[in-house]
Amino acid sequence: VNGPAPGPGEMSLAVAEITHPAGRVRTLHLRRPDGGTLPSFVPGSHVVLDCGDRRNAYSLTGPCLSPDAYTVSVLLRQDGDGEVAGGSAFLHRLEPGDVVAVSPPRSAFPPVAAARHHVFVAGGIGITPFLSHVRAAVDWGRSYELWYAHRPDFPAHAAELRSLCGDRLTEPANRRALQEAVRRIVVSQPLGTHLYVCGPAGLIDFVSTTAAEAGWPSERVHAERFSVTGLDPGEPFTVALRRSGMSVPVPSGVSLLDALAKAGVTVPNMCRQGVCGECRVKVLNGLPWHRDLFLSEVERAANADIMCCVSRGHDLLELDL
Ligand code: FES
Repeated sequence: VNGPAPGPGEMSLAVAEITHPAGRVRTLHLRRPDGGTLPSFVPGSHVVLDCGDRRNAYSLTGPCLSPDAYTVSVLLRQDGDGEVAGGSAFLHRLEPGDVVAVSPPRSAFPPVAAARHHVFVAGGIGITPFLSHVRAAVDWGRSYELWYAHRPDFPAHAAELRSLCGDRLTEPANRRALQEAVRRIVVSQPLGTHLYVCGPAGLIDFVSTTAAEAGWPSERVHAERFSVTGLDPGEPFTVALRRSGMSVPVPSGVSLLDALAKAGVTVPNMCRQGVCGECRVKVLNGLPWHRDLFLSEVERAANADIMCCVSRGHDLLELDL
């Protein structure tokens, strides 16, 4: 399979090897066809892979510095009827030698350099961003602990993590044991500890809420979500379009992308989940409410662009449209 030609900034990488860290999960090892090294990345980064009719984000699980391959672990997802669904099915059909378009690494879940201690909490396939976090913490001698809850029949990367982390890894037997651990962690960690969570939405919500109730400021709690489904419908806001002179209201529960389309302003788009980067629009005035997985921390802080499929404005935004 040779996927579509890569878009601007994307790389064409070949599947060099496929390994199987757990049932229904395969790890793709992607290399440059010329065998050269790939751009380094920040721990917790993800890439967006072209999956045929859509693009999905996957965490990079290998070493961060000048890697000779990018590795991503892909869970074969099933819909409610047990049918395989989405981009994961496409990636599970790839064979060694097939070529895929891959975005440059994006950092949306980095370690906080000033943290005195890092507590990583993972559920199921949500372990993937922590592989690069843990590798970097080991390399740099950072203080960390990893809590990883998984089903006994779904130990993705567990053996690798046991050898990497030693006694810094705890594997709670079930969800309740993990929740009890989180309750203890949020009342026992000193200031200076940062908490990171990735996994099912219920786990992310539990950790975020439990930490907030214990008085943790949101800047010390970091969550990684792989798609931005189930978003808050948000408050209504308005966008002013400088080039066309139009003013477009965006009601609660309607995306900026859809509101623009309804007003006759078409913005190119693909994933509609905040991961592919296709719907990027320049912001000339106003503060965006960033909810995508595409922009880097630096780009978010600059507030110069908005991914209009998922992100919104707080009040009035002026856009370069
Ligand atoms: S359409 Fe993919 S990020 Fe918006």
